[in-house]
Amino acid sequence: MKRNRWIVLVTLPSLILPLLLFIIFFNVQYFLKPPPPNPSSKLSTMYPNQTQFSLMIGILTRADNYDRRHFLRLIYGIQSSPLATIHVKFVFCSLTKPEQRVLIALEMLRFDDILILNCTENMNSGKTYTYFSSLAQLLPRKYDYVMKADDDVFIRLEPLALSLKALPRVDLYYGFVIPCASMNPFVEYMSGMGFLLSWDLVEWIGSSEIPKESVFGPEDKLVGKWLKMGNKAKNRFSNKPAMYDYPGTNGRCSHELIPETVAVHRLKRWDQWLRVLEYFNVTKGLNL
Ligand SMILES: *[C@@H]1O[C@H](CO)[C@@H](O)[C@H](O)[C@H]1NC(C)=O
Ligand SMILES: *[C@@H]1O[C@H](CO)[C@@H](O)[C@H](O)[C@H]1NC(C)=O
Ligand SMILES: *[C@@H]1O[C@H](CO)[C@@H](O)[C@H](O)[C@H]1NC(C)=O
Repeated sequence: MKRNRWIVLVTLPSLILPLLLFIIFFNVQYFLKPPPPNPSSKLSTMYPNQTQFSLMIGILTRADNYDRRHFLRLIYGIQSSPLATIHVKFVFCSLTKPEQRVLIALEMLRFDDILILNCTENMNSGKTYTYFSSLAQLLPRKYDYVMKADDDVFIRLEPLALSLKALPRVDLYYGFVIPCASMNPFVEYMSGMGFLLSWDLVEWIGSSEIPKESVFGPEDKLVGKWLKMGNKAKNRFSNKPAMYDYPGTNGRCSHELIPETVAVHRLKRWDQWLRVLEYFNVTKGLNL
């Protein structure tokens, strides 16, 4: 008995010391360790992501418009909105010239912002239908909204996103309602300068028989016709006066530049682009 007690007395401290070290070590480890990951909050605290929706803007243009694409990449590359993930892509029909296969491929490798549709270049024989009905297959992801825009329109992404913030994410048809003076988005259609559809309507265009049967005619007008025939787009929003044609170019569709602008259309000449960019202080920060 005596001997056993002696062993305990001798071994106890030598057991306690490692135990203490063990406890200290793991406590320190515990305190050094970052708080346990919370999958939902971890990303948002590390990289604040306040975006509330996503939008793909497809600019319908032609393969040969290299200079216009270069310019528009600058215009949209310097814009963003904290409200939305916005991707701008250039959309055109099948390539037709040998040099396009190399030059467009270079652009795609560098910018990854081109969608090539299976069609022959046209204004009013189905490009818009091909565009919307191909998106589900062409795009690697879904977006809440898809826009169709011309390549002669200046879109201001921040006011655009702000104007969409409170609007429905489904069954939405948004743009500049035609005729020019109309304030009622529930009759007629949205101008081709730039109109937006929610993803469910894009999918509907791709799957319904209604659009398939009428693809020839003014592109923007047809979209309004399909939606009417399909009893679609219960949610509509015509953003006037924030969207318009460049001053003096198109009767009552035009008015003077205004600070709350979302889109100015019919920018055909450099002097028009310059006036618009200067008016909106786009390059003012550099003051060259
Ligand atoms: C930010 O959040 C939105 C909505 O939750 C999501 O769709 C988007 O992909 C996120 N963006 C990034 C860069 O994580
Ligand atoms: C492109 O369209 C043509 C005519 O509509 C069709 O015959 C062809 O299969 C299509 N090609 C692809 C890759 O979808
Ligand atoms: C551009 O900057 C000027 C001078 O700071 C300002 O008065 C004007 O309101 C700005 N324009 C717009 C459209 O924000």
